[in-house]
Formats: sequence, C-alpha cells, structure tokens
Amino acid sequence: MTGSPKRIALLTSGGDCAGLNAALRAVVLRAAALGWEVVGIKQGAHGLMGRPPQTLSLSVQSVDTIMMRQGGTILGTTNKGNPFSWPMPDGSVRDLSQDMLEGFRSLNCDALIGIGGDGSLNILQRLATLGNIPLVGIPKTIDNDLGLTETSIGFDTAVAVATEALDRLQPTAASHDRIMLLEVMGRDAGHIALAAGIAGGADVILIPEIPYDIQRVAQHIKDIRGQGRNFALVVVSEAVRTQEGGRMMNEFYGGQKRLGGIGHVIGAQIAELCQAETRVTVLGHVQRGGQPSAQDRLIASAFGVHAVELIAAGKFNRMVAWSNRQVIDVPLAEAVKHYQKVEKSGSLVRTARGLGICLGDNSNDP
Ligand code: F6P
Repeated sequence: MTGSPKRIALLTSGGDCAGLNAALRAVVLRAAALGWEVVGIKQGAHGLMGRPPQTLSLSVQSVDTIMMRQGGTILGTTNKGNPFSWPMPDGSVRDLSQDMLEGFRSLNCDALIGIGGDGSLNILQRLATLGNIPLVGIPKTIDNDLGLTETSIGFDTAVAVATEALDRLQPTAASHDRIMLLEVMGRDAGHIALAAGIAGGADVILIPEIPYDIQRVAQHIKDIRGQGRNFALVVVSEAVRTQEGGRMMNEFYGGQKRLGGIGHVIGAQIAELCQAETRVTVLGHVQRGGQPSAQDRLIASAFGVHAVELIAAGKFNRMVAWSNRQVIDVPLAEAVKHYQKVEKSGSLVRTARGLGICLGDNSNDP
C-alpha cells in the first residue's frame, strides 16, 4: 500500500475549532511513516494566492504531542472570501480560482487534504474538480451540520464548553432567583444547543429547526417557578429567529455579517412575560477555542490517518467520516450537498421532550 513516495499538501479552512491540530499531527505522522513529505498551506486556500504560496513544511519534528493538546490551527485559516467570487478593493468581484490552482501546481504536490466545514469543503471540491487536483476532505465544524458523518472535529469540545457554561450559570441563577439564558453558536443548525442543553440540565432549549411560541416558553418557566424552583436555565441557538421571523445579525469590520443577539431579544421577552430577573450570556468563540476534548482528539487522529491511507490507495474526492464507531469514507460531493440539521423526530429531540424540557412548541403537551 506504500507505493512511490508522495508529497502532499494540507490545509485547514473555514472557522477554526478545537481538534484541528490533532488532525494535522495525524496526517503528518501517517504520511511520515510512508516516507512522504507534507506541505502545510497557510490561511486555508488563501495561502495559494501568494507568490510563492505561503507554506509551512510539516515534519515529525514539527508535530509533537503538545500540538495535539492545543486549540486553533498552526496553519491558520479563514472563513472569508470565495475564490470564485473574490471581493476586490474597488468593490467589484473577480474569479481568482485559476490563480489558486496555479499556486497549487507550483507546489508540485501529488494530492491535497482539506480540513473544512460544508462551505469550505464545497469550495475546495469545486477548485479540485476544475484543476484536476486529487482531493481528500476531513470534516470539522462545531456546528456539526455536515452530511454523511455522525460527527465532525470540534463539535464535542463546543458542546463540553457550553455544558460547562450551564454548570457555572446554574448556581448563580439559583443564588439570585434568576432566569439565566445562554446563547450558543450553530450557524444554521441547533446541534450544540440541543446537546449542551440536555447535558447541562436546561429547562428550555430553542433551536432553529423547531419554531417556538414565546408564550409557551414563558408559561413553562412560570410553571417551574410555581412548583417552587426559583431559577430556570434557557439555551438558545444563535440561529433561532425572532417571533416575526427575522435573524439577528451583527456587522463586523470589513462588512462581515454574523449571527448573534437573539438571546437578548428572547431574554427581554421572558423577563417581561415572567416578571422575573433574566440575564443573558452569549458564549461566542469560547466554544471554538481551548483544549480539544478527548473525543475530538480521537476522531481527529482517526480522520487524519484515514485521509492519508485514502491517498495511498489512490481514492480521491472522498471525505473521511464517522459512522457506527468507525472511521469510513464517503463521496465528498454527496457530503457537502447533504446538510445535516437537527432531526425533529431524532433521538436527542425525543430525549429532551422525555425529560420535560420545553422546546418552545406544543409537542410536550399531554
Ligand atoms: O461555523 C462555525 C461558526 O462558529 C458558527 O457557529 C458561527 O455562526 C460562525 O462560525 C462565527 O464566525 P466568525 O468566526 O467569523 O465570527
């Protein structure tokens, strides 16, 4: 299975998350065992725009075990700019895909491993098809919304961080007779909110997949208080809409728009309807940083090793995936097409309902 020695390129793209460095390490170690060279591309595919492209040579010496324990990505990454419609300083948009492909060719690599979420793997796949680049994808996203894999690198750590936040909010909520609302990330899907809400003992979990009625949410909290409990915990995914259907967005430097702020809207409504002190915590990027959980290190390691083995076997346009306690591989094009929202009749939704957690709709009614 070793074949002739290869030189492979490796990049991380999209938003960072915990576990990326563990995946990079696994790729380098497996490749080194096969006698291959690994070239890290900096700042995602953007590194290919530089002349020469911005790279970092990755060897066994450069990937010690300290790296596996660190959050972020030593290669850097970006979730801005699509090479097929690149924003120019004068406000126009240009297709710079050929520049990136030229950059890749200049590296003289036999294959590319791209670690990304649905958006960035989609772009990489388009680039690879256009430029005939042998590509293998590794899924990462705290949102866990990539299709054809049960989990992606970063999700487990994000859930652990959000659960810990609820563990910390509960005693202060109880001490002050307050309702504590935690807004968590998840660009279009409520996986983090649902998992952390269950694990962290939330009373209410609102996710974008299940429309909510604020009166019902308030009544659930009033019932809890009526039964003698003086506090309540509410988890809201950032992608939840207002009652009128709007998305709460913030605009950042460079015109980048990101979700955020729905927690404050819903928190104010709960305070008013329940006539109770309500405080809102927006967890934000804390969910992406820090040490990866053991589970994220494990799947990142398994994904990295399997990605190299796919290249050794000459199997391309595949994405490594997790299924039934195993690492497998699936067609990359299918995975990026198949968006994975929370299943409304799925196991965790049924678990939440079974625990009496209010999901904002009427399905818990007797
Ligand atoms: O997709 C990952 C994610 O963390 C989302 O959950 C969130 O909406 C977004 O990225 C935040 O992006 P940025 O890092 O650009 O603020």
